[in-house]
Amino acid sequence: MPAGAPISEKALTPWAVLRDGSLLVWRFVKRRPWAFAIGAVGGAMFAAAVIAASQAVGWVTAEVIIPVLDEGLQPDLLAAGAVLLVGVSVFKAVGVVVRRTAAGWFHYAATRDVRNELLAHQLTLKMSWFNKQSIGDLLAVADSDVQQGAAVLSPMPYFTGISFLLVGAVVMIFAIDPWLGLGAVIGLIVVIAVDLHGSWVTYGMWERVQAARGKVSSVAHESFDGALTVKALGRERLVSEGFGEESDTLRDRNIAVNSTWTKYQVIIRAMPQALIVVLMVVGAARINAAAIDAGDMVTAAYLLSLLSFPVQVVGYVLWDLAASLAGWRRVQAVLDADQHMEHGERRASRKRRAASVVGSTLDFGYDDEPVLRGLDLDIRAGATIAIVGPTGSGKSTLCLLLARLWDPASGAVHLEGRDLRSFAASELPKEVSYVPQGAFLFDASVRENITLGESFTDAEVEAAVALAGAESVVAELADGLDAELGERGTTLSGGQRQRLALARALIRKPRLMILDDATSAVDPSVEAKILRTLRSAALPSTIVVVAYRPASIRLADEVVYIDAKTILGHGTHSELLESEPGYARLVQAYEEEAQRLRREAP
Ligand SMILES: Nc1ncnc2c1ncn2[C@@H]1O[C@H](COP(=O)(O)OP(=O)(O)OP(=O)(O)O)[C@@H](O)[C@H]1O
Ligand SMILES: [Mg+2]
Repeated sequence: MPAGAPISEKALTPWAVLRDGSLLVWRFVKRRPWAFAIGAVGGAMFAAAVIAASQAVGWVTAEVIIPVLDEGLQPDLLAAGAVLLVGVSVFKAVGVVVRRTAAGWFHYAATRDVRNELLAHQLTLKMSWFNKQSIGDLLAVADSDVQQGAAVLSPMPYFTGISFLLVGAVVMIFAIDPWLGLGAVIGLIVVIAVDLHGSWVTYGMWERVQAARGKVSSVAHESFDGALTVKALGRERLVSEGFGEESDTLRDRNIAVNSTWTKYQVIIRAMPQALIVVLMVVGAARINAAAIDAGDMVTAAYLLSLLSFPVQVVGYVLWDLAASLAGWRRVQAVLDADQHMEHGERRASRKRRAASVVGSTLDFGYDDEPVLRGLDLDIRAGATIAIVGPTGSGKSTLCLLLARLWDPASGAVHLEGRDLRSFAASELPKEVSYVPQGAFLFDASVRENITLGESFTDAEVEAAVALAGAESVVAELADGLDAELGERGTTLSGGQRQRLALARALIRKPRLMILDDATSAVDPSVEAKILRTLRSAALPSTIVVVAYRPASIRLADEVVYIDAKTILGHGTHSELLESEPGYARLVQAYEEEAQRLRREAP
């Protein structure tokens, strides 16, 4: 499912493209007005230098070069002419440097701001929002859509500066003759209307380009993520073909939008010349009427020729505006997502002893389909509880509710009498540690993966590593705790990753520790040892562990047997073996599997 906005159902009007595009530019200008203003001043300097250069060349020709032919070389005048021309050129060069530097800074600062804003916003959203996103598409939003959304900012200071040239030239034509001025204004309005039409036509096409870009990114992300499976099953060709189709769609849409724009370009480039023809016709009529003389006409034609470049810049900006708006709408759709996690005011307790957990009448479903119904759970402080149930029965889901990574649709979870929803943001993880089924490690050192930016001492890190049975993992790494792990900890085995993820949870000395099958990839004997250590009196935690191995299940004080969307039974392992035939069958199957593995072990 796409992260960004879907392609507009209802076509926008050209006016709406202009309005929304201008609001987009304003959003950025408001944020960094100085960078924009300095860029615009650079643009205005350039525009002024263009006019000044034409005046200076005229003056030098009339006052320096022609007199040389009649009166010979006049060093003073020659020097003055040279200083004037060099001065204007330097002024123009400074204008160009100022504009380009400020515009570049403005543009890149804006993309940086938006990327930070996007990430910060996404981290406030509920898991239910993430559940519906395609990661590849989200990456495309953060990368190409942000880039494209801000693309119009790059020419904006130039456009603003050069607008002075546009307005100045039109005012001067008006000053020569109002009819000529009117002719120029009408001509400009026609040119801009054609530009705007082009911008509006290409807007819809740009939306399709960006959607295709998101799709390419999704498919690429999925195929990189699933590379192992694809290679193992020899499905490279299928994946390449799928990717090729999406790339072809993107290519076709890019070609379509660019060829449409090229057609507009032909018209737009011819327009300034057509404008001069119009001016000639109006001018001839005005000369006939003796309202202006031929000199005025030449000046007006020169002023109009000065306009041809700014008029082209208007076209480019409107084109960029359409492209930017299409990219920005996808960014905006993510920024508009408002499924925020609601938090209370409660701070985490300073007590470091185990906490009781009570779940009352919990109802939950990821979508409409219920996963847990009317589930009640009561865990005394300091107990070790094993959650056992067939695959897909909702064990992980229950763990997520206990750590408040999702909220129940109805019912509540209380930690030592306090509703999990009453905790302030980032406070609950100080009391509850959750270790998921798939251990995730960051592209950082072992130490950074365990501390996650908090100030733990080396002794604390080492103690947590020992508690998680990960001493041998660290000892085998050349740089020990400082060893870099690579993206997602790919340099480690599954079991090694799990033990470091466990150490990360243990170092926080949680009051409730939730292990969702978090030791499945370590040897059974190591798993049992870890669980025994966790149960030891020194560790002040209540432990909820999703377990499959009979040895681990037996270590629990109590077992919660879950199936058919609720808890079917709870008690000690032997009580459940007696009372719940389903549980007995399940554990028997686990036992047979464990025996088979033992037999097959070398
Ligand atoms: N993110 C999700 N989005 C939608 N449905 C989900 C999601 N995660 C799980 N489910 C569904 O919820 C049900 C319970 O899943 P859950 O992961 O809690 O089972 P589990 O008991 O942990 O299974 P396993 O033993 O395989 O880990 C399943 O039917 C599953 O299809
Ligand atoms: Mg699970």
